[in-house]
Amino acid sequence: MKILGIETSCDETALAIVEADGSAASPRFQIIAEVINSQTKIHEKYGGVFPMMAKREHAKNLIPLLKELNFWRRNKGSGIRNKEEINKILEREPELLEQFLEYIPTIKKPNIDAIAVTSGPGLEPALWVGINFAKALGLVWGLPVIPINHMEGHIVSALIPKQVTGDELRVTSSTIDFPALALLISGGHTQLILVREWQKYEIIGETRDDAVGEAFDKVARMMNLPYPGGPEISKLSSMARTHKTSPAKYILPRPMIKSDDYDFSFSGLKTAVLYTIKKLDEKTKQTDEWKRELAKEFEDSVTEVLTSKTKKAIEEFGIKTLIIGGGVIANNHIRKSFTKMISEFPECSLLIPDLSLSTDNAVMIAMAGYFNYLNKQKVGSEFIAKGNLALN
Ligand code: KG4
Ligand code: ZN
Repeated sequence: MKILGIETSCDETALAIVEADGSAASPRFQIIAEVINSQTKIHEKYGGVFPMMAKREHAKNLIPLLKELNFWRRNKGSGIRNKEEINKILEREPELLEQFLEYIPTIKKPNIDAIAVTSGPGLEPALWVGINFAKALGLVWGLPVIPINHMEGHIVSALIPKQVTGDELRVTSSTIDFPALALLISGGHTQLILVREWQKYEIIGETRDDAVGEAFDKVARMMNLPYPGGPEISKLSSMARTHKTSPAKYILPRPMIKSDDYDFSFSGLKTAVLYTIKKLDEKTKQTDEWKRELAKEFEDSVTEVLTSKTKKAIEEFGIKTLIIGGGVIANNHIRKSFTKMISEFPECSLLIPDLSLSTDNAVMIAMAGYFNYLNKQKVGSEFIAKGNLALN
């Protein structure tokens, strides 16, 4: 079956069509088309994402992106039925409504079987745009609309592990061994989740304050680096790693590394960075080196805490597959460190998403849609945006 995925939970507007078949235990996925529009440039000026601004951008971008998917055949017929209902569904998104009524009647009902859309967690105004768009499309085309937990999307994103270049299709049969452990590291979440079978999620640990991506972004802001800070910190620290000009000059804590649980805390680490910056003398501040070294020490601290807690969980629960998802796994050092760590566990395999699927995208939403579609209990059209939607 083919699923249209829609993602608007934060600052990426993304659409994808994914072909899926096989059972939940052995699914196969193939990306048919994928488009994404990042609002980073818009939010950069403000150093963060403003929900209402993100919502407006999503509303503006969805129809142009839908066109760009290039999956549609022209329709010579005229008008759409259900116009009144569409008006009602999209009344809060006038710009989207106008484009919708103009474009949708010009294309035929596509050869897709369901629509999957992120319903949370995320910024509620932003989530609503995607949800209303999905519901309006579902109504016009007579397709089921499946609400997706964004974090479940990040978990399954690792099931398409490699990007094949050129015209080759990215196809993979994704049978994994259970129990699996999912480490989710994004801008809003840091969680360790025990997965005994698909769609059975048990959170065994999570952050008590800042998420790891949030800590990256805040530390970057302290260093006057642009938003989003994660990739900037990553760039600086990899310079420090390759130059090896000096030994680490700054020492930061490894919060909760020895605690007797699977929880995390990154707020103290962020404060430690702040104090370190405050103590810098004027001469040092004039150089760039301190940024590189401090970025590296910060990245080391985060990496050691993440790998050490994950290792403990692999041992305790006899984990057979480690899955890592969320934007922070785009970080090169963290990727490498986990690859190295997993070599200590020959009975456990590691699944990391392709770089392009590490940060927010709609492919993962369509993929999660397939699991939800197979698990009929999780499909329902009466749903709303939930900013703090939990995995269960
Ligand atoms: O999963 P994601 O795209 O959005 C959320 O669901 O939150 O994750 C975004 C987070 C941001 O905090 C961003 O700074 C971080 O992922 N990030 C990185 C890197 N690329 C993105 N953090 C560290 N190193 C990176 N290379
Ligand atoms: Zn995300």
